[in-house]
Amino acid sequence: MNNVAVIGGGLMGSGIAEVSARAGHDVIVVESSDAAAKAALGRLEKSLERAEAKGKIESAGSVLQLIRVETDLDAVADREVVVEAIVEDEAAKVALFKRLDDVVKAPDAILASNTSSIPIMKLGVVTSRPTQVIGIHFFNPVPVLQLVELVPSLLTSEETTARSRQWVEGSLGKQAIDCQDRAGFVVNALLIPFILSAIRMFESGFASAEDIDRGLVLGAAHPQGPLALADLIGLDTTKAVAESLYEEFKEPLYAAPPLLQRMVDAGLLGRKTGRGFYTYG
Ligand code: NAI
Repeated sequence: MNNVAVIGGGLMGSGIAEVSARAGHDVIVVESSDAAAKAALGRLEKSLERAEAKGKIESAGSVLQLIRVETDLDAVADREVVVEAIVEDEAAKVALFKRLDDVVKAPDAILASNTSSIPIMKLGVVTSRPTQVIGIHFFNPVPVLQLVELVPSLLTSEETTARSRQWVEGSLGKQAIDCQDRAGFVVNALLIPFILSAIRMFESGFASAEDIDRGLVLGAAHPQGPLALADLIGLDTTKAVAESLYEEFKEPLYAAPPLLQRMVDAGLLGRKTGRGFYTYG
């Protein structure tokens, strides 16, 4: 499985493209516009230059040579692994999987989604090959974090799961855990209510953002506090994942607090827009 496509070259897609190319795969990234394609390439260049400066790779240029950024989905026809990493929006992902089913010609291609919370079954059943549709959920930042959640739906074949495991562990050098096809899988089902509780605590004036985060860093040895983590994930993505969890389980602990909704409406999305719970320079 040497030919890889990543659909969406944002925060996650560019990371998945990077680790795939660093493993020697030929990678096509598909973005939705020329401007977004340029931004994706910029993200890849910056990250690879950082990896080179830290001595993690020999040459950013030689890894970049393995990556092509396109705006036409037809470019992925010959791919053996396709990882979807577009916005966390069920309608957008459903529309994309329908198109991928038409476009991808390799008969045993794996059609994977990096979704954080949308049931894989919803994406599988809109294709003619749900046995080949699986969740391959990476963590942010992809070049740094080792974990991948493998999420077969009820219709995913054992062969697809085994080949996916072989790709993420054998080729990309990640470590996989197996999850059932439930919104949030393992990590987000635990992490998102924790972040939402921190937002509620801040919103109610219980403590400042800095003190909430310092509390968890110094008192529970977390590498960063929950509000800084929400800024890193992106507040739009945090809200979207909370909504999928709420939709699935109908538990108040998954309900997005009003402050999170207002910040997303205001475009205060965290690091990627320069302001969230903190301001970034
Ligand atoms: P992002 O907003 O940084 O990137 C999404 C990219 O998809 C954008 O560059 C956008 O131009 C592109 N896009 C949108 N529609 C498209 C289409 N139809 N065709 C091609 N490109 C399209 O979002 P991010 O954070 O990278 O998230 C992507 C996916 O990864 C979501 O499903 C999210 O839930 C998941 N995820 C996010 C994590 C995070 O920490 N942000 C962690 C793990 C998974």
